[in-house]
Amino acid sequence: MMKSQKVKILAAVGTRPEAIKMAPVIQGLQQQPWAECRVLATAQHREMLDQVLALFAIQPDADLDIMQANQDLVSLTARLLPAIAATLDAETPDLVLAQGDTTTVLTMALAAFYKRIPFGHVEAGLRTGDLAYPFPEEMNRVLSGHLARWHFAPTDSARRNLLREGISDNAVHVTGNTVIDALLGVVDQAPEPPVELGPEDRLILVTAHRRENFGEPFRAICGALRRIADAYPDVQILYPVHPNPNVREVAEMLLRGHRRITLCEPLGYLPFVGAMRRAHFILTDSGGVQEEAPALGKPVLVLRHETERPEAIDAGVVRLVGPVQDRIIEASCKLLDDPAAYAAMARGLSPYGDGHAASRIIQVLGAHFGVQVAL
Ligand code: UD1
Ligand code: UDP
Repeated sequence: MMKSQKVKILAAVGTRPEAIKMAPVIQGLQQQPWAECRVLATAQHREMLDQVLALFAIQPDADLDIMQANQDLVSLTARLLPAIAATLDAETPDLVLAQGDTTTVLTMALAAFYKRIPFGHVEAGLRTGDLAYPFPEEMNRVLSGHLARWHFAPTDSARRNLLREGISDNAVHVTGNTVIDALLGVVDQAPEPPVELGPEDRLILVTAHRRENFGEPFRAICGALRRIADAYPDVQILYPVHPNPNVREVAEMLLRGHRRITLCEPLGYLPFVGAMRRAHFILTDSGGVQEEAPALGKPVLVLRHETERPEAIDAGVVRLVGPVQDRIIEASCKLLDDPAAYAAMARGLSPYGDGHAASRIIQVLGAHFGVQVAL
């Protein structure tokens, strides 16, 4: 690098969680005198991505506007690859960054590989070990990982997953998860959730969107929610519904109209953090929520058979119940009826980070280009 030239970094964001988790990295890089960080929005999500970009005041330099209603994986991938490649030709970055395991990440990693541009993978090394769960994310993260020059692993267990796959230790950096940076940055501004609650009411917050839960598993989740709401007069369920039609149509059909269940549009990040903070506990198949809730001291029941985030399970503050009606009801009743069981899960701890993950990532990149960056 010539002294007068800045390092050109292109950061890709496609979906809501990528924007939340990349925001601290993008904001941090944009303050570095040695770096020029530009942003590519693939807009694999549209409204949900725009909500987050607006909150963090991030303006994309390129926007592929790729989302289509009920998009399928093949056409999404096929449309993204040449569009990202054209952006790389126009932007000529020195390196690219992407976060997580979405189709945006896989296509960014692959396009950068074809263009011989080094790729830094944020939130590297998460694994369930089963390509079918979560689908297609496990495949996306394995393939993207093998295309990466820098692996920013959130935890030591993620680092060990990478080493087991033959990734060189020198290329792996344990940084913590940037979601904790984002969460700590906004939690003090988070408002009360958009649901009427008496002082004694207990709020259960719900989210669900995983492809492998479409169909019967999702109907089982909705059935469990109705039974819980029927059984506890002091429980209110707040469920911001993902706009995917495979989720929305079933949730509307099975849950709309119950007086203790509030279905709403996806919440902005600030109100969602407010809802997590007010919640008694959370039912979710989300990845990010499994990371955030423990830091807020909120028990989580995970509506999946497996998780790539074992740390909070091992600590006893998150429990896998699967998208299985009886197990969801049994575990929810335990949290509602047994104060000791509740207290055991409602301990505030943060296995996924200390709020300085983005600084560590920036330090690693700076060091690569011969720049010392203070934490
Ligand atoms: C995607 C990611 C998933 C991630 C999730 C975060 C893939 C394959 N999946 O899943 O890993 O956990 O994002 O939420 O990359 N839609 C809208 N407006 C929006 C967003 C989505 O209408 O702002 C609807 C559209 O009909 C769209 C559909 O949701 O086609 C599915 O979006 P898609 O990004 O393909 O999948 P997600 O289930 O959101
Ligand atoms: N989230 C949000 N509004 C909502 C639901 C979730 O802002 O209505 C946030 C949540 O706090 C977390 C992220 O979105 O940071 C998780 O996104 P999602 O569950 O869609 O994806 P995943 O993490 O499973 O990839």
